[in-house]
Amino acid sequence: MSLPQRVRLVEVGPRDGLQNESQPISVADKVMLVNELTDAGLGYIEVGSFVSPKWVPQMAGSAQVFANIARKDGVTYAALAPNMRGFEDALAAGVKEVAVFAAASEAFSQRNINCSISESLDRFLPIMEAARLHGIKVRGYVSCVLGCPYEGDVDPKQVAAVANELIAMGCYEVSLGDTIGTGTPGATRELFNTVAGQIPRGRLAGHFHDTYGQALANIYASLEEGIQVFDSSVAGLGGCPYAKGASGNVASEDVLYMLNGLGIETGIDLDKLIAAGQRISQVLGRANGSRVAKARLSA
Ligand code: HMG
Ligand code: MG
Repeated sequence: MSLPQRVRLVEVGPRDGLQNESQPISVADKVMLVNELTDAGLGYIEVGSFVSPKWVPQMAGSAQVFANIARKDGVTYAALAPNMRGFEDALAAGVKEVAVFAAASEAFSQRNINCSISESLDRFLPIMEAARLHGIKVRGYVSCVLGCPYEGDVDPKQVAAVANELIAMGCYEVSLGDTIGTGTPGATRELFNTVAGQIPRGRLAGHFHDTYGQALANIYASLEEGIQVFDSSVAGLGGCPYAKGASGNVASEDVLYMLNGLGIETGIDLDKLIAAGQRISQVLGRANGSRVAKARLSA
C-alpha cells in the first residue's frame, strides 16, 4: 500500500504527557503550552482530563486550563471523560470533543479505571447519548493493544472486539494505544490488519509510547497499513500512571521530522513545535525527550 499524502497528528502532550509528571504544573504553564501548540499549527490538542483527582492529581486543573486557552477556529481542543461526571464537567468547561478510554486487557482496565472492560463500555453509553444531544464528538481509545503490564501478550482479536464496540456505540474514530511501548512493526501490522477486518482503516489511529524505542518504526509500519492519524506528545512528555515503566509517547517533533522527510503533509511548523517542547521541558526541569529537538537545539 502506498503512503498517505496527508497525516493528522493528535497532540496529547498536555494530557498524556503532563498527567504523568510528579511535580505541580501551574495552569498558566499548561495554558501557554496549549497556546504554543496551537500556534505551531496542530489541528487537534488533547488539553486535559475530567477524571478523579485522587487517581490523577495532575489533571485536576483541566477546567481552568480550558477557561484560559486561546481557542483558534478549526482546532479541536479535547478532553478525556471516563464517566458521566467527567462528561458533565467537560461540557461545563466548554469542551467540544471528548475521548472515552477502554482497555484490551481486564487487569489494566481494573487498575486504570477500577472496573471491567464491559463495565467501562456500559459507562460510556450514557456519555454517547448525552454527547449526541449536545453535538459533541467522541473519540475512543483502546489501551494495551500490543501488550499489557499485568497480563503480557494481548490478542489482536480482543483489541478488535473492544474497538468495534466503541465504533458501534458512536465513536467516530478509535485510537489503538501501545501503552507500554513493547510493540514492534510486525506486531503493529498484524494488529491493524486484524482490526481493519472489522473497522475501516480511516477510522483508526495509532498511539505509540516509545518505551522500547519502537514508536517511529511502528508508525511507519502503520502508514504502510494505511493509517493516517497518530497521537504524539511534544518533547516526548509523559507515560501512564497505571502502566509502570511506560515512558512518554513518541515525540511529536520526531514524528513530524519523519513525515516531513517522507513528503507527507501535516500543516505543522517544526521550529515552533521544537520551541514549545523546549519551553515545557525547561518548566519541568527535565531533558527534552525529542531526539530531533535535541539535535536541532545543539546544532
Ligand atoms: P472510582 O473510585 O471507582 O469511582 O474511580 P467512584 O465512582 O467510586 O468515585 C470515587 C470518587 O471519585 C468520588 O469522590 C467521585 O465523586 C469521584 P468522593 O465521593 O470519594 O469524594 N469521581 C470523580 N471526580 C472527578 N471527575 C470524575 C469523577 N468520577 C468520580 N470524572 C474513575 C473510577 C474512572 C473515576 C477513576 O478510576 C479515574 O478517574 N480514573 C482515571 C484514570 C486515568 O485518567 N488514567 C490515565 C488516562 S488513560 C491513558 O493514559 C491511556 C491512553 O493514553 C491510551 C494509551 O496510552 O493506551 C488514553
Ligand atoms: Mg497514552
